[in-house]
Amino acid sequence: MNFQLTEEHLAVQEAAREFAQTELLPGVIERDEHQKFPAEQIKKMGELGFLGMMVDPKYGGGGMDTISYVLAMEEISKIDASASVVMSVNNSLVCWGLEKYGNEEQKQKYLTRLATGEIIGAFCLSEPEAGSDATSQRTTAVDMGDHYLLNGTKNWITNGSTASVYLVIAQTDVAKGHRGINALIVERGMEGFEIGPKENKLGIRGSDTHSLMFTDVKVPKENRIGEDGFGFKFAMSTLSGGRIGIASQALGIASGAYELAVKYAKERKAFGVEIAKHQAIQFKLADMATNIEAARLLCLQAAYDKDTHADYGKSGAMAKLFASKVAMDTTIEAVQVHGGYGFVKEYHVERLMRDAKITQIYEGTSEIQKIVISRELLK
Ligand code: CAA
Ligand code: FAD
Repeated sequence: MNFQLTEEHLAVQEAAREFAQTELLPGVIERDEHQKFPAEQIKKMGELGFLGMMVDPKYGGGGMDTISYVLAMEEISKIDASASVVMSVNNSLVCWGLEKYGNEEQKQKYLTRLATGEIIGAFCLSEPEAGSDATSQRTTAVDMGDHYLLNGTKNWITNGSTASVYLVIAQTDVAKGHRGINALIVERGMEGFEIGPKENKLGIRGSDTHSLMFTDVKVPKENRIGEDGFGFKFAMSTLSGGRIGIASQALGIASGAYELAVKYAKERKAFGVEIAKHQAIQFKLADMATNIEAARLLCLQAAYDKDTHADYGKSGAMAKLFASKVAMDTTIEAVQVHGGYGFVKEYHVERLMRDAKITQIYEGTSEIQKIVISRELLK
């Protein structure tokens, strides 16, 4: 395995870094404080090609590999994890799922606009009583011949009020269990589709998390993705790649906090010297850097597996499990390195610490990643 980055990889990384510094950094504290969705910034990300990075250019995407995506996600997440979750959901859950499993008509109708960021999408699996236990879908999609009648509630949906297209997982045939689940493309504005209030969250506060309510929503049959009963496999398969996106988000949060800690340690003086001269601080930085490097290698390994068509379910889960713990540990230590200044908003590390936590919860909690990994090990 050779992780020597190509010229193209370095160019994407640099473009994402530049965008994050110039467009996301200004205002990131205010957006977090006021839970403001980064609408203008997301629009620009679409224009720069960050919302459909891996989609075939014939559908308006960037045609890039997963390694490029990991590099860009890291850079964006160093500065603004609220923006990077929008990027992750749109790229790896919505665009990837549609490109891989949608039919040509669905791709022409939806993917072309999603890949360019003209519109954004949402992925709707979780419910009030079906989070980790994702096969326990209560939302129903009753087959009415030419359409499905959709009823139920989805919870915690990222891009909940800003998306135009929602990939909704729902139970059609209870008797068939997870093989009776379908994935439907639901458009914003369909009659009977309501969006609940925005969640007031600990972290990624700029992102847009809502519950969604469906009451007798008529979804045309042609909006089903794949064969009848394919919905659960669609969700699981799509999430395998999504977890690489969230692993890279966690990596970015950790490396952002680490860079701030190094800078601060060289500036702040205590007992007559920079705190970076105290071994206790040096050891914290050494631990952070080592863990981040290991997390980066796991992310790149998972991306490489995906790009080379190897199985990436286990490597993606490992990357997410490890990188999310590194994000949590690193951000806590970055606050510690900053002392009291780390506890206030203007130094950024407290936000990164709050943002880190979600990476251990969404797209499968850390406990779920261990289930995925151990099943692979033992099969
Ligand atoms: N690819 C394709 N198919 C898969 C698969 C994969 N990676 N993993 C499982 N399947 C298939 C299985 O083969 C099985 O089908 P068959 O019986 O036909 O073989 C079917 O799915 C059911 O699998 P399991 O028996 O393993 O199901 P389970 O009930 O034991 O659950 C689980 C498995 C891994 C725990 C799963 O429920 C899970 O991943 N839960 C977490 C849900 C999750 O990650 N939610 C994230 C929501 S999106 C999100 O969070 C976005 C965001 O925040 C930004
Ligand atoms: P539960 O499943 O109730 O888990 C509670 C605890 O029990 C966890 O610690 C869990 O690890 C543990 N646990 C559960 N089962 C087991 C087991 N078998 N073994 C060991 N431990 C177990 N979902 C979407 O579909 N789309 C989105 O866009 C989306 N965005 C989100 C954004 C945010 C900000 C948040 C908070 C959530 C989002 N989610 C989204 C939902 C997210 O994926 C779920 O919250 C997550 O999968 C966990 O489900 P739960 O909250 O129901 O927790």
